[in-house]
Amino acid sequence: MCGIVGYVGNKQVLPILLQGLRDLEYRGYDSAGVAVLDNGKIDRVREVGKVDKLSQKLEGKKLPGTIGVAHTRWATHGGVTEFNAHPHIVDGRMAIVHNGIIENYRELKEKIQDKNYESQTDTEVLAKWIYQNYKGDLVQAVKDALPGIRGTYGLVVMHADHPHQLVAARLGSPLAVGIGENEFYIASDVTPMLPFTKRVTFLDDGEIASINSELKIFNLRNEVISKNITEIDWDQAKAQKGGFENFMLKEIFDQKEVFEDALRGRIDMEEGTAKMGGLNLTEEEMRKVKRIMIIAEGTARHAGLIGKYAFERLANIPTEVDFSSEFRYRDPIVNKDTLVFVISQSGETADTLMAAREAKRKGGQVRGIVNVVGSTIARETGAGTYIHAGPELAVASTKAYTNMTAVLLLYALQFGRLKHTSLATGQRMLQSLLEISEKMNEILKQNEEIKKIANIYKDYKNILFIGRGVNYPVALEGALKLEEISYIHAEGLAGGALKHGPLALVSKDVPVVAILTKNQLYEKMKSSIQEVRARGARTLIIATQGDEEAKEVADEIIYLPKTMELLEPLLNTIPLQLFAYHVSVALGRDVDRPRNLAKSVTVE
Ligand code: AGP
Repeated sequence: MCGIVGYVGNKQVLPILLQGLRDLEYRGYDSAGVAVLDNGKIDRVREVGKVDKLSQKLEGKKLPGTIGVAHTRWATHGGVTEFNAHPHIVDGRMAIVHNGIIENYRELKEKIQDKNYESQTDTEVLAKWIYQNYKGDLVQAVKDALPGIRGTYGLVVMHADHPHQLVAARLGSPLAVGIGENEFYIASDVTPMLPFTKRVTFLDDGEIASINSELKIFNLRNEVISKNITEIDWDQAKAQKGGFENFMLKEIFDQKEVFEDALRGRIDMEEGTAKMGGLNLTEEEMRKVKRIMIIAEGTARHAGLIGKYAFERLANIPTEVDFSSEFRYRDPIVNKDTLVFVISQSGETADTLMAAREAKRKGGQVRGIVNVVGSTIARETGAGTYIHAGPELAVASTKAYTNMTAVLLLYALQFGRLKHTSLATGQRMLQSLLEISEKMNEILKQNEEIKKIANIYKDYKNILFIGRGVNYPVALEGALKLEEISYIHAEGLAGGALKHGPLALVSKDVPVVAILTKNQLYEKMKSSIQEVRARGARTLIIATQGDEEAKEVADEIIYLPKTMELLEPLLNTIPLQLFAYHVSVALGRDVDRPRNLAKSVTVE
């Protein structure tokens, strides 16, 4: 969490920093600040709250200069106050922005001579520690300070004696450097630099960058490292709101297009299979995979649960899905016959990254399914697949979920075709996948209708979501979407599990959203809905077009086009995303930046 931006070049830096902070605000928005160096003097402005508040505070202020650093904070150490906001400045001479946690800040404090602290943060301790190591060479100061630090960091420092230099270091928190014409950008992800350059290099753990008229990257042994430059092909327009009220709505509507990007070049209709390049396994090796483990958090885990149904049904491979945060701290049984998929939109989620390392250590074959190009998980897993959802900026994940699901379905089909899935089934599935984006479009056209329904449900304090089979993860995802952006308590349940406890919660004050599409569990699902209606619950039903019978158990109903059962989550989740969105808007919530959350959770 926390977003870092820095720039050194010929342009006025303040507008670049402010726009960069807006682009990174999804990473945290408790407070924000900028520091600009000009004429040997560092000027800093910080403010509690979102970047807009900082921007208002800056109105009328002149912060000229062509070098600066900025930060948007998600608080870990110390409360949400201006004193705790970054950048931190030591002695008026050195500014620092930091993402991560310094675990041994208490020990460091003992070694630091300057005992005057304005904040309660570990970052200020880090700043003073680096400053104490400074003897005229800023890169050397950082190099000398880092061995004394325990914890995680992505940091950038700027010193009044070095008017054209930024020094950055990374251990555990991402940093990308954008290379322009006689100018450099540095940020927690590539979004702030996309309007200016597509040429980017990513710092790896243990690397230090000296950025002035040239970019030099060192490792902790002080060796200069030559790095690959990645050309980022994300269209800048895709990272903008494109006329939508906010990013979440835009990203929900993006799904019909980006879904096609997830399929592009990965379909072999003739053979009725998928061509997924990222496994780096021969067909023989693929046949030998005995078990699949899927590790992820939140929405990515829900996509993983859909993957489990697909791997077991199409490929007959036992598949487990785990929370990354749990996987690490139990004794998971992983060996060379286990294929481990780690799924992450950001590619930076600390729990998932650590779980991936643990799975590797235990000898599993680890593959990433990731959205952000060049992110840590993508690089560390080495092999795997990008989901091609494009920049997802709203905290609530929508299009990434859809594309993760698509990639898992394609993998399942590829494994299935090497085993018992028939050519006809493979071709039918691919044909159905190709028809999905048009069907998504039909659902999105019901946006206004769903908005009206959301208004009926917005004042309830608790809402249950139920689904069965492949729609159980859909119920989980519908509940997560609603609670994270509306703050209404919501729970996703397997329809069959209701009567084993949760049914006690049901009353006229607790409505139920149920997924009742036409599949093999239709009748069972209908019984579950009848159980809740008998207890007075209002029901919103997601049903298949043409199913008149579904109206019998519905107060409100949303009809969706029919597709193959395994593919249903790709459609059935969309009305739930729109439902959550409209409830949240009706309640006046900040949809893109819900309280207490951040887009990528880079701390444990
Ligand atoms: C989704 O809406 C959430 N905000 C969250 O659960 C998210 O899916 C989770 O933190 C995992 O993130 P990742 O995909 O970037 O790893």
